[in-house]
Amino acid sequence: MIILKKVNDIKSYLSALTKTVSSIGFVPTMGALHSGHISLITKAKTENDLVVCSIFVNPTQFNDAKDFEKYPVTIEQDIYLLEKAGCSILFLPTVDEMYPNGIENLAHFDLGFIETILDGKYRPGHFQGVCQVVYRLLEIISPHKLYLGQKDFQQCMVLNKMAATTYPTLQIIICPTQREPDGLAMSSRNLRLVPEDRLLAVNIFLTLQFIKNNIKPGDLNNLKQNAIASLTAKGFKVDYVEICNADSLQLLNDWNGKTGIVILVAAFLNGVRLIDNLLIKEKE
Ligand code: PAF
Repeated sequence: MIILKKVNDIKSYLSALTKTVSSIGFVPTMGALHSGHISLITKAKTENDLVVCSIFVNPTQFNDAKDFEKYPVTIEQDIYLLEKAGCSILFLPTVDEMYPNGIENLAHFDLGFIETILDGKYRPGHFQGVCQVVYRLLEIISPHKLYLGQKDFQQCMVLNKMAATTYPTLQIIICPTQREPDGLAMSSRNLRLVPEDRLLAVNIFLTLQFIKNNIKPGDLNNLKQNAIASLTAKGFKVDYVEICNADSLQLLNDWNGKTGIVILVAAFLNGVRLIDNLLIKEKE
């Protein structure tokens, strides 16, 4: 695996390959890699001539400075895992390299409704930051395919929307959430959980499953309120438990029993914010 840190270096390296490489798969990350990230690399490897992974903890997507400061960094281990997975190129830029004109006047993306709900509501500016960094990375790497994890369901929708106007040839491939043996969704932030909270964290997945098993057509408010109350009683500070239309992400208070829906949860355990979701396909 080649590690490149400069925008000009990766651009010239990739442009020299255009005659031999017809498909570049790209996996953007913020490092602290786990099997979820590696599953994206593995998938990208089977579908492309070349796989590029980026590791960049993007300051513009953190609405909470403490969360940014505490974001786990495990670069040696990340390099080892990427090598082992067969990644071709690791792009490892600095903030100055990514944003040479500073972070104050970056582009604003018109994301509409999708930015006003769920993480868009609870993390103001977060999705603008995600779009800014991914837009910049796409401009540098010019991939054919972008690999994202379903764990960040709303982020996938946001990036779909951003790419539809700015990079319409890009194919976005959304890969299943990878889970720990107890069901907890893999996340870099899990590294920040103290052992007691790591044991408690599985309750997010159990809540999603509880809703999935108990959902019925009709009013959804009781189910959502019970889920929030149960997580709160276990020590979570809940941002939201929502049930949404899986295509539009419109929040639903009532379900017709037919529309594909997604259940989404975001909750803190001692300052560590965890998210997860479960898709429910059409019910017969
Ligand atoms: O999902 C993430 O890790 C980040 O939001 C991403 C897509 C790498 C952009 O910084």
